[in-house]
Amino acid sequence: MPIEYSNREKSYQLYRKGKQEGTWDPDEFDFAADRADWKQFSDAEKQRFLASCAAFYDGEEDVTRTLAPYMMALDALENDEMPFDTVQEEIYLAQQVYEEAKHTDLFSRYFEEVFETQDTEPHRVGGYQEQGYSTDDLYDTADTLLAAINSGDQRELVYALGEAYLNYMGIVEAQLARGGYLSFDQMIELKAEEMGREVVLESFQTAIGKVRQDETRHIENGRWIMRKLAEAEPDIVQDVYEPRIEEYVENRLLGAPPEEMPFEGYDQRKIGKQTMQYLQDTVDYIGADRFEEYDDVRRVVQTRRAAD
Ligand SMILES: [Fe+2]
Ligand SMILES: [Fe+2]
Repeated sequence: MPIEYSNREKSYQLYRKGKQEGTWDPDEFDFAADRADWKQFSDAEKQRFLASCAAFYDGEEDVTRTLAPYMMALDALENDEMPFDTVQEEIYLAQQVYEEAKHTDLFSRYFEEVFETQDTEPHRVGGYQEQGYSTDDLYDTADTLLAAINSGDQRELVYALGEAYLNYMGIVEAQLARGGYLSFDQMIELKAEEMGREVVLESFQTAIGKVRQDETRHIENGRWIMRKLAEAEPDIVQDVYEPRIEEYVENRLLGAPPEEMPFEGYDQRKIGKQTMQYLQDTVDYIGADRFEEYDDVRRVVQTRRAAD
């Protein structure tokens, strides 16, 4: 299938941006200074920092391993009947899967050279599975997508793709990962302050900056496709997007108990406020007026909190 070169869409523009920005190499970083810094962390600080890193390492692997069915689903869509070019989006996702593999590679190297282990299991804490959202769920999402491809039903396929983009780009990338970066920022900043230093784990921070830049493109592409799928099947917003957002808000924004943090001055509320804004940004990108309840995330959250 030819690309419509006269009509390069959002996904192609992001692919082009990725060709320029996404060429960094995890092997370029020297982690020797980070290894020395890490020895200055207390046991409690190590435990907490490792919990976030383990979630990211596993998460990057999970997103790498579950993205292929999205490309197959795009291929199975009737391109002529969709309000976007599925071929350009397939090209975009081919780039994304490479970037996700590279993120996995980065965490793998960091675990090996700084944490001196490859085992994430002992550091998986916080009961994320029980809180109703985990990157483990992406394997089920991929299975649902494969079933929809096999069904041959276009509407079912659009719905399955909408749910998949919402889970992957809308929740895992736009909410969980971005919240995680804010947490890294605070932990590192507070540790540097305590040690009277400008910066600690400097290579980690620089490398994560590269990952974040990649993720910004992934999230924007995801939001754009969710909007396009809503143009194709307007009911998808109430049937698929809102129930999934509801689940996330209930379990994560409202349900998560405040965490004990070993880093002096850690501000969980600030992160909560920012992640709420990220969700609002997703809603606004899709089109707030398409939503029945979640057009204004803050209003829903405040109403629910007042009712508790
Ligand atoms: Fe990633
Ligand atoms: Fe990503």
